[in-house]
Order: sequence, then C-alpha cells, then structure tokens
Amino acid sequence: MSSQNGADGATVVDTGLFRRVCGRFATGVTVITTTTPDGEPHGLTANSFSSVSLDPPLILVCIDNRNSTLGQFLAGSPFAVNILADTGEGLSRRFAAAVDDRFDGVPWSHGTTGAPVLANTLGHFECVLEKAVEAGDHVVLIGAVKDLRLADEGEPLVFFDSAYRALL
Ligand SMILES: Cc1cc2nc3c(=O)[nH]c(=O)nc-3n(C[C@H](O)[C@H](O)[C@H](O)COP(=O)(O)O)c2cc1C
Repeated sequence: MSSQNGADGATVVDTGLFRRVCGRFATGVTVITTTTPDGEPHGLTANSFSSVSLDPPLILVCIDNRNSTLGQFLAGSPFAVNILADTGEGLSRRFAAAVDDRFDGVPWSHGTTGAPVLANTLGHFECVLEKAVEAGDHVVLIGAVKDLRLADEGEPLVFFDSAYRALL
C-alpha cells in the first residue's frame, strides 16, 4: 500500500494508512494534566509528546481539537507531562477512557506550579503554556518547562502499532 495521485495530480494520503505508518514509530506514553481555575484536575493520555528546545527548555504535545479537555489546557493553568512506566498501562487506558473522574483512585499531588503530577511515573515536566499552534485537526501546545522530576529507576511503557509493549 502507498499513497495515490488524485485527479489534479496532488498526492492523496489515505487516512487509515497514515495512522498505520505513524503507528510504526514507537513512542513512550504520557498523561498530560492540568487544573481548572477552581482547582479541578483534568488530563488525557498522549503519545505525541516531544522535546523541542534545550535552551530555553521547551516541550510539545499535540491535542485533538475534539478533546474534551483541550479548553482547560488553552485556559493557561500550568500543565504537567507525566511519563508512564511499564506499570502504567492502566493509567494510560484510564486517561483515554470516558469515565466521570479520571483521577478517582489515582495517586497524585500538586507539583510546584500547581499542576497535577501523578505518582509512580518515570518522571514529569511541569510547564506553562508558551504557545498554542493550530495545526490541522490538532493544536500543538508548546510548554516552557518550569520544574521537573526524575524517578530513580523504572522501565518505560511503550506504544507501537496500536499496542502496549515493553522495552526489549
Ligand atoms: C496510547 C495513546 C496515545 C494517545 N495520544 C494522544 C495524543 O497525543 N493526542 C490526543 O489528542 N489524543 C491522544 N490519545 C487519545 C486521548 O487520550 C483520548 O482520545 C482522550 O483522552 C479522549 O478524551 P475525551 O473523551 O475527553 O475527549 C491517545 C490515546 C492513547 C491510548
């Protein structure tokens, strides 16, 4: 399978194939978290995380325009990128699921910026929103890193070909 040319000669990229090729890029899994102005935590599972810049330290994550929590991130409260360990498949599923309160029963605390940080991760970044860039059906959130934590040990949760894997 490959892309095809449309009537006007432009390349037509098949959406399903695009997804599958993207899926061949193995990633870690994160949970992105923030709070409403009145302190209610929100979050979603995301594997579109990337580091962007070392100086200043910037990261990015892409969020679907239809995501129910996107508005909370655009509202500007600090947000955290929580990097899941290989024990975190349940967290990944929970923060991608339609449940009333994704934080119910999940150990977490407020980081130094006030963003919710999850326990038992490999580490996290706490960020303030530097820039939000509309890009197709997603918004790219670029975060300026204000604090961060590194776990002493642990192995990552890996996502490849639409399935959870362990590091070989
Ligand atoms: C492994 C994995 C990675 C995901 N990565 C992203 C992502 O990078 N961006 C995104 O918008 N949604 C991503 N999702 C989907 C969202 O987690 C999911 O659609 C969302 O939490 C649904 O929220 P809503 O029903 O509140 O809109 C991912 C889901 C999984 C399971």
